[in-house]
Amino acid sequence: MCGIFAYLNYQVPRTRKEIFETLVKGLQRLEYRGYDSAGVAVDGPDKTSTDINSNTIYLIKKTGKVKNLDEELYKKDSLDLDVELCTHFGIAHTRWATHGEPSAVNSHPHRSDKTNEFVVIHNGIITNYKELKKYLITKGYEFESETDTEVIPKLIKYIYDNRETDSISFSTLVERVIQQLEGAFALVFKSRHFPGEAVATRRGSPLLIGVRSKYELPTENIPIQYNSGRHKEGVQEKNSHNRPDCADSISPVGDSEAVEYYFASDASAVIEHTNKVLYMEDDDIAMVAAGKLSIHRLNRQAGEDPVRAIQTLKMELQQIMKGNFDAFMQKEIFEQPESVVNTMRGRICFDTNMVVLGGLKDHLKEIKRCRRLIMIGCGTSFHAAVATRQILEELTELPVMVELASDFLDRNTPVFRDDVCFFISQSGETADTLMALRYCKERGALIVGITNTVGSSICRETDCGVHINAGPEIGVASTKAYTSQFVALIMFSLMMSEDRLSHQKRRLEIIHGLKVLPELIKNVLALDENIKTIANELFESKSLLVMGRGFNYATCLEGALKIKEITYMHSEGILAGELKHGPLALVDKDMPVIMIIMRDACYIKCHNALQQIIARAGRPIILCCKDDPEVTKNSYTTIELPQTVDCLQGIVSVIPLQLLSFHLAVLRGFDVDCPRNLAKSVTVE
Ligand code: AGP
Repeated sequence: MCGIFAYLNYQVPRTRKEIFETLVKGLQRLEYRGYDSAGVAVDGPDKTSTDINSNTIYLIKKTGKVKNLDEELYKKDSLDLDVELCTHFGIAHTRWATHGEPSAVNSHPHRSDKTNEFVVIHNGIITNYKELKKYLITKGYEFESETDTEVIPKLIKYIYDNRETDSISFSTLVERVIQQLEGAFALVFKSRHFPGEAVATRRGSPLLIGVRSKYELPTENIPIQYNSGRHKEGVQEKNSHNRPDCADSISPVGDSEAVEYYFASDASAVIEHTNKVLYMEDDDIAMVAAGKLSIHRLNRQAGEDPVRAIQTLKMELQQIMKGNFDAFMQKEIFEQPESVVNTMRGRICFDTNMVVLGGLKDHLKEIKRCRRLIMIGCGTSFHAAVATRQILEELTELPVMVELASDFLDRNTPVFRDDVCFFISQSGETADTLMALRYCKERGALIVGITNTVGSSICRETDCGVHINAGPEIGVASTKAYTSQFVALIMFSLMMSEDRLSHQKRRLEIIHGLKVLPELIKNVLALDENIKTIANELFESKSLLVMGRGFNYATCLEGALKIKEITYMHSEGILAGELKHGPLALVDKDMPVIMIIMRDACYIKCHNALQQIIARAGRPIILCCKDDPEVTKNSYTTIELPQTVDCLQGIVSVIPLQLLSFHLAVLRGFDVDCPRNLAKSVTVE
């Protein structure tokens, strides 16, 4: 995820310093969405310029957090901070890198050329950027960054340079750009050719517009302008909209009325300025010209809403930062239907059942020839390896080792040139994992990264890798990163078996399972109240056992880790097959035992373990598939889950445990996002 913020003041005098402060504050409200680099684009002129109307655009970009950019803004002594600008449009962006490591040149805004004719800020991923970049290079456009985003300003300049009429509107240019884009985007454009004008559009990434006017804004909706009913390019008609000169009811304010617009990825950046917001829909194009807002769309789809309402936000700022959630961890748990989609975006084609991990493509032959796969990580990232080990063995037909990085190093584990070593890490900075990476690299193994942080140490030191695209994970307890790591490794196993006839049926079953996965996750999230009720029964327990096996052994380990790290209860993930070899001694009427019993190859064995628990008066809470007769016929406490493919079931079954740990921590009065003694990234060994 990245944070987009833009501010347009029309007939509202603001000093450049005030504009900078507004832009920086907007980014700070969005910093939880991404914070590895940031930038702004504002109007000239500079102190030396005599032409007050020179349409120059200044780009100021900086690696690191927004405060680094803030300091940089005031170093630009060529910019007069006290000059008052009655009309100005500034755009700003805080980045979470997906393509191209964190750096000034890779940060946004990106530009069309060295004179900044067009600049743009982007949240999302353009999946066809390589084809567009190749085409634009043949047309003589020179690229300066490694990002997918940079194709956008180059493309709009190409369209502008080849325009058929000089009266083409800014919104029409953008309309033509988005017709060429594939993937997800929220975009805000600024241009020297359209001073004081703004154009914004979205597809798959959120974008809203805050409106602040001294007049009471009309509550009625803003009708959409379809290309068939579009006003002549650049000409706005007037109407009797109960205020003089207000254009054809396509803007909340009339001609030359003072007004301010705020464009943002979410309302947390807007609420302190106005509570009047308009939420854009996919493929809407919003344009502000001469202070008037209009919404355009290419074509009207049957049944779609032909208007966009200006709504009144009722939430307070703090609440909005976390949405309707009480903690970032909770928000990230509920983001998982979207985050798994982002992990798969541009990598799985559900029409052709092709799976391509671009970051591994060039090394696939070498990986296929290797002697074994060694999956290395810590904590939750290690559990993602455990969760996918069985399917990796099945589809790659290679021996798969899963290793805790610290133990792997303690043993001086033998590693060879024909080994392929995977390093799984959300932060990309975990010291143990990084040390293990260097250990393997010294021994000539191929080094593969599965990370969520571009530009991180692990990311930089690998030979190749996969970015899980889960977006920043703020809560110390990892949730959406786990399910995205899980999906990324599943996609790797699918890619490795692409050409194996004997695995095609299995592959299709898994690919279909991935396609419906977001819906299944939503169904499980809908059980949140039931899980909260169970938490109420458990939160005073001293211990909590989590038991399972096969594809759900990792779920036990991960669930137990969530519980211990945020509720401080003793919790242990136990392989059900090991029950009789010792853990059964822990079971009595006071010991709650969460049992994961899915309808897979271990179903009978898990039921046998359940009988062992019952026989010792244990109190099982059973995670089972919906309508499992062996479970529902008894009066056990159950959490019934949708069934999916056995090797994906661990993604579905971990979510109730994430929710349970959250509710237990809240009931026990602890800080969910910042549990005691822990850090989000363990950068010391
Ligand atoms: C998981 O909830 C913990 N925060 C911790 O175990 C974490 O998974 C581990 O420290 C590894 O972190 P990484 O994925 O950033 O390498």
